Amino acid sequence: MAVGGATRTLPWSWYVDPAALRLEQERIFGRLWQYAGRTDEVAEPGSFRATRVGHVPVVLVRDEEDELRAFLNVCRHRGSIVCEGSGKRSTLQCPYHAWTYGLDGRLITAPRSNREGGIETSDLGLLQLRAETWGPFVFVSPDADAGPLADFLEDVPERIASAGVDVDALRFLQRSESEIRANWKICVENFLECYHCPVAHPGFSAVVDVSPDSYLLEATTNRMSQYGPPRPEPRGAYDLTGEVERGQFHFLFPNTVINVMPGRPNLSIGPIFPLEPERTYRHLDYLVAPDAPQDWIEELLAFDAQVGAEDTRLVERVQEGVRSGLIDEGRLLPESERLVAHFQTLLVDTLA
Ligand code: FES
Ligand SMILES: [Fe+2]
Repeated sequence: MAVGGATRTLPWSWYVDPAALRLEQERIFGRLWQYAGRTDEVAEPGSFRATRVGHVPVVLVRDEEDELRAFLNVCRHRGSIVCEGSGKRSTLQCPYHAWTYGLDGRLITAPRSNREGGIETSDLGLLQLRAETWGPFVFVSPDADAGPLADFLEDVPERIASAGVDVDALRFLQRSESEIRANWKICVENFLECYHCPVAHPGFSAVVDVSPDSYLLEATTNRMSQYGPPRPEPRGAYDLTGEVERGQFHFLFPNTVINVMPGRPNLSIGPIFPLEPERTYRHLDYLVAPDAPQDWIEELLAFDAQVGAEDTRLVERVQEGVRSGLIDEGRLLPESERLVAHFQTLLVDTLA
């Protein structure tokens, strides 16, 4: 499934094909590190939070020893989801037939199993997944053999710290969720280029210098980053006063987005993953410096929501176009769209 030259896009059939999605679920979302939530969601021993990485249901748990764990949120009996939402409990009980698991994942009781036999409870604990943290951010990998999270993050933590953002000091504001009628890869590819910014994001482009000589693109193995300095004379509705000089927009393959806007210390982080071939879920957790003033916070959120709404329209239009089936593939500009090309190469290599 090689992609022709560097200037050709992926085959457009990959944006609609259920078989492509199944392969991505198996080789990408079923294996790689993905953002799963925040440590404050499971702060106390006994607290749990249901989440997911791609199509994989996950429950984050803070056990009695204060250790953060992640389990596949799937009952070993007949496969029901075990936990929904969040809460605090001393055990995790499946709502279907009340199989009950300890916070360490062990199966404690399976009603009637003593009377009937046939169930080896010691073999049937919740499947533990890899979970590691960077500051308040929890990442999960369904692959027990995944490398350390630090390798996956590359130098993103240092870049964000050196921009004046101390992730441990940030205050969580809100989670903004969206469902988009487009393939997840179209959403990722849209994030990875700012070629469209002058055309499609007038508000963003009034604040950030999106000209090709100022707006920097950088790709390493796993990380695709964009750096946007403020315009020499910003003329937008967003106040750039603060210690962060330049916007940083990182993407960690396969699906984690990390944004820092210029201005006061801030960060937004979240996943982009497929629900169906032509439907995508994403969210962003917004965090800001504890002393950030309320009017600036509202300005930041409104500014970002505007850009997000513009992007949703763009990617949904692309989906409509690529699903027409009469053209096999598109073209990429070698410089302005080189992060898109990088993502597509990583994707092809990972699926191979
Ligand atoms: S499926 Fe969970 S107890 Fe039956
Ligand atoms: Fe955009």
